Amino acid sequence: MHTIKPANIEVTSAASAQEALRAEPVALSEPTPAINDYMAARLDRFDLPKNLREAIGYALLAGGKRGRPVLLVQCCRAVGGEAEAALPAAMAIELIHSFSLVHDDLPAMDNDDLRRGKPTVHKKFGEAMGILVGDAMMSLAFQILSPPEVSMDLVGPLARELAQGTTAMIAGQVYDTLGGFTPDETDASRLNLIHRNKTGALIRSACRMGAIVGRADEGALDGITRYGEAVGLIFQIVDDLLDIEQTVEHTGKRTNKDAQAGKLTYPAVHGAPASRARIEDLRQVAQAAIEPLGAKAAALAELCDFLAVRTK
Ligand code: IPE
Ligand code: IPE
Ligand code: MG
Ligand code: MG
Ligand code: MG
Repeated sequence: MHTIKPANIEVTSAASAQEALRAEPVALSEPTPAINDYMAARLDRFDLPKNLREAIGYALLAGGKRGRPVLLVQCCRAVGGEAEAALPAAMAIELIHSFSLVHDDLPAMDNDDLRRGKPTVHKKFGEAMGILVGDAMMSLAFQILSPPEVSMDLVGPLARELAQGTTAMIAGQVYDTLGGFTPDETDASRLNLIHRNKTGALIRSACRMGAIVGRADEGALDGITRYGEAVGLIFQIVDDLLDIEQTVEHTGKRTNKDAQAGKLTYPAVHGAPASRARIEDLRQVAQAAIEPLGAKAAALAELCDFLAVRTK
């Protein structure tokens, strides 16, 4: 079992600033082994049919950047909490995120064959299993948020936060896939509604859950919330740009698919240069939001800079 030590976030001076930012930051790579170990061990303790366990392990354990659980752990640390205490909530958020990907890829949704560099769950295990794996991951996420791993007084606040983020993510997927907007909305306001819900809400919840585990005071929780909202929007704008700028080999998922599918994306509505400018504005908003937390939030500052320039 890996233990989590405080992040050393020094960037080597040899690499150019841009290259250093594009390299995987210590703030992302350092907590990831402990998160992966915890998830693998915890998954084995659920009483599940062998085929369901196999398909969930396939969806959850191999591949994925672990962006949300890492944000959760680092937000916990940024408010003075212990990383180990955040691992159950970190697994819960990654289960919800991974469930959202399994369902996002289904034929009735984005109909994708490749995810995290491998065949999608429904391609590998069939469509019924794809649906049921997603269902199971959603309920397992809430099952994890209970004593003894989670203090009794935190169960309610964490479950409520995770449920709100999940409901918003599902609402966002409905906007993205089926519409449902009020008639007076412009493409730009529809886009905001899609992005803030389908991706932003779960990232906001990841950050807030970390702060809740770390028993943040009201001011710190407010700063973390604003950070999470900005980073959440950055995340989907970058995802939209990767769809038009990157290859399937590099990202491990199909690219050049959004325009074909007629999706409302940031570059489609505003253009790529304005998308980049928006990312930079949001990056500054995120950095300002965590400034009052001081040196404890150094890893969050590093993560935000990385997520703004990531290439996969
Ligand atoms: C992809 O999320 C889908 C979005 C919500 C943008 P990630 O880019 O975090 O995917 P993984 O978890 O690393 O596979
Ligand atoms: C996915 O958005 C959002 C959720 C899964 C909630 P996308 O459909 O853009 O994600 P990718 O590009 O397939 O990873
Ligand atoms: Mg989608
Ligand atoms: Mg998709
Ligand atoms: Mg996408």
